[in-house]
Amino acid sequence: MTRHMIGLLLGTEDDWPTAFTEILRRLGPVEGPGGTHDFDVERITIEPFSLRDRPRYDMAIDRLAYWYYHPREWLKKVALMDGVYLLNSPFTFQSMEKHAAYCAMMRLGLKVPETVLVPYKNPIDNNRYAYTAARYNQPFDLDAIAKKIGYPLFMKPYDGGAWRGVSRINNADELHAAYDASGEMLMHLQKAIDYDVFARSLSIGAETMVMKFQPDQPMHLRYAVEHDFLSPDAGLEVVTIGKLVNAFFRWEFNSCETLVKGGDVYPIDYANACPDVALTSLHYYFPWAMKTLVKWAVFALVTGRRARLDVETDRFFAVADEPGLSYGEKLGEYRKLADAYFDTERYQDFCATSLARLDQLVLDWVTGPDFDQLLVRTVQSVYPAHEHDQFIAHLRGLLHLWVRDESTRLAAA
Ligand SMILES: Nc1ncnc2c1ncn2[C@@H]1O[C@H](COP(=O)(O)OP(=O)(O)OP(=O)(O)O)[C@@H](O)[C@H]1O
Ligand SMILES: [Mg+2]
Repeated sequence: MTRHMIGLLLGTEDDWPTAFTEILRRLGPVEGPGGTHDFDVERITIEPFSLRDRPRYDMAIDRLAYWYYHPREWLKKVALMDGVYLLNSPFTFQSMEKHAAYCAMMRLGLKVPETVLVPYKNPIDNNRYAYTAARYNQPFDLDAIAKKIGYPLFMKPYDGGAWRGVSRINNADELHAAYDASGEMLMHLQKAIDYDVFARSLSIGAETMVMKFQPDQPMHLRYAVEHDFLSPDAGLEVVTIGKLVNAFFRWEFNSCETLVKGGDVYPIDYANACPDVALTSLHYYFPWAMKTLVKWAVFALVTGRRARLDVETDRFFAVADEPGLSYGEKLGEYRKLADAYFDTERYQDFCATSLARLDQLVLDWVTGPDFDQLLVRTVQSVYPAHEHDQFIAHLRGLLHLWVRDESTRLAAA
């Protein structure tokens, strides 16, 4: 029996870690290469560590290091020194900024809207700034930049998240007001896409779920339960771009945002490498996310998948630079590179054999009382008391819908 220890690096959340742990517990030992494999899950605590300490973990799933730097440095240490498998490695995640992903996607020929990075509005807190800025900062014409991009446009931090500092700009007055308010934030100006559909895709290892997203709605209504809301071509393209960007940066747990207008797919945010997987936001899609996280973790550990800290940009750029290839053909080549990186075929075989019982097991769990308790506890911890009944009913309804759809799917299979 080979034992694997999975560590969870967490902030305030309790819902998905409980779900993840429970599914693994119900799954029990898994047969795979080298015999039987067993899994333990633990929450990682934050404490002093010697840089030469050996960690207890074979894998760490991180939802914390994007803002808490002590564990981020621990992740770097265990990635470099101990070969711990990380979702995601801080060397490869750029969730502190979206800029690198824009650059990579433009270099690969994707339709990122026109984007300009402008210098800080206010002096940043560094005593060399005044001298450096006086000597090297060129005066620039903000209006001319905006005019060239064209209104409406978005002004948003190059390293944004959670809508911090994001504004939609319709004219020069709004432009200056937003820039003046940006202070010490470094801002992108980006052409606004007047989209038909906002698709948000959650990628976990070799799998991607594309969901219809409604950014103007409150958190619990942002993911709409709607299937086939994209044409087959646009759907395939959204999935391919997600896999491509993730394979390019070695992200294995990420959520991506794309705007779809007619037949065109515009990526706008591909760097959320500590993605939200809360029960209250994912609702209907939560069982899929938890199951997939378990599948990918088990697959990686049982097959001895090695974490990759290097990126192989040249392999991707070679496709981008191939003169004879159309956009669609490039996507096809990118898809092959991404599937090779994620070992997609082997993963699918592994799920179909070693994890064949998982679908039914998760369905039984979501149908039963343990899951309902988790749902109720989660609502009680997230919402004020007077909203408990409303949100418990809301989530139960959506999860019943999932149970119905999943039962139909399994019966047909
Ligand atoms: N180029 C664009 N065209 C149209 N809408 C945009 C564009 N850029 C951003 N938006 C809108 O602004 C929202 C926030 O932008 P963005 O995703 O870049 O910021 P964020 O801080 O990462 O937000 P989140 O945490 O929700 O992902 C998007 O969900 C979208 O509705
Ligand atoms: Mg975003």
